[in-house]
Amino acid sequence: MNVKKLVGEKASEYIEDGMIVGLGTGSTAYYFVEAVGKMVSEGLHITGVTTSIATQKQAEGLGIPLKSVDEVDHIDLTVDGADEVAPDFSGIKGGGGALLFEKIVAKRSEKVIWIVDDSKMVDQLGAFPLPVEVVCYGADRLFNDFKEKGFKPKFRMKDGERYLTDSHHYIIDLDVFPIENPVELGTYLKSLTGVVEHGLFTNLTETVLVGKENHVEILSK
Ligand code: A5P
Repeated sequence: MNVKKLVGEKASEYIEDGMIVGLGTGSTAYYFVEAVGKMVSEGLHITGVTTSIATQKQAEGLGIPLKSVDEVDHIDLTVDGADEVAPDFSGIKGGGGALLFEKIVAKRSEKVIWIVDDSKMVDQLGAFPLPVEVVCYGADRLFNDFKEKGFKPKFRMKDGERYLTDSHHYIIDLDVFPIENPVELGTYLKSLTGVVEHGLFTNLTETVLVGKENHVEILSK
């Protein structure tokens, strides 16, 4: 059983005709976007707002009509994956590097649904590296600040080079476990000049669909 497919397809049941829908990024959101593409090919009318270049390409290939977040006055529903979800529905995102657009779209959405498999549900956040997106200029200085703080930073790498996000920033992954207070840590990270965004998503979702071996559990706040 492909649990990511199961949960991605389940989330497509929340889509209604005429909606403006945020399309998440990652290997679970992939299946949601595929399901939406199928519904569009069968006559559903929606407008998609993508959260990464990868999802944009996928959605274009499926013929989903798209608008940018700047062209819509609201987003009805966004469906996205997550790397870790705590019992209070705070989470870590950005394992795929799309945290900035994902957060911009989520914050403009009336409803956000996360789709995850069971392995993403944790008691406390932080075992998954916490991504921090930083402007390239000054990134080594921020890296040192994080090191001094004991955050064990690592520049995310790709093909031997520093990974660049869709917005041409670096990502520094932090090893902070356990994250006792995600809101406080997030506020601290955002206060640093050069930090563009971080992967702590708090108070952004009220529904998490958890894919299990043969079924999907729906968690609501
Ligand atoms: C993309 O940057 C991420 O925030 C993803 O939403 C998250 O990493 C979950 O991805 P998977 O569904 O591939 O695990």
